Amino acid sequence: MSNERPVAEAVAYRGLPLPNVPEDLVIPNVLGLDFDERLWDVWFRPLVLNVSQGYFVNILRVRKSGILSRHRHTGPVHATTLKGKWHYLEHPWWATEGSHAFEPPGDIHTLEVPEGVEEMVTLFHVTGAYIYVDADGKALGVEDVFSKLQLAQDHYEKVGLGRDYVQQFVR
Ligand SMILES: [Fe+2]
Repeated sequence: MSNERPVAEAVAYRGLPLPNVPEDLVIPNVLGLDFDERLWDVWFRPLVLNVSQGYFVNILRVRKSGILSRHRHTGPVHATTLKGKWHYLEHPWWATEGSHAFEPPGDIHTLEVPEGVEEMVTLFHVTGAYIYVDADGKALGVEDVFSKLQLAQDHYEKVGLGRDYVQQFVR
């Protein structure tokens, strides 16, 4: 084997699939934000609920200014802002449309969508848990891929899509 990339040719792989590979997960139109309202549990739309690796990918949509509870992360978080802007009370930077932010594990922050932003939409990739904390860092509650899965099941049942609707997002 060399480090050189082989010449590209338009020939599909014809061998056997590798063992134990989960199905691909493809969700159309995630950037066109005019999809079925039932997919949203108020502000949370799951795209991937990865129970085998302990992370989830979701779109967060906030349609008025407001605060999302102060929390601490046990794993890394990536946030790509698709629309509007937001910031953390604890940091000087702003997440603006088209920007990408990395939140290291252990960061404690309080998300604010400022006055004047009609709609904020951000794609989050969250590994591990959210630990909700008081202003001194004392733990108040926990959310992770398992609680998100449960909430999504309840939501999709309530809106008539059925509890199992969420299974397509689980890996
Ligand atoms: Fe966060």
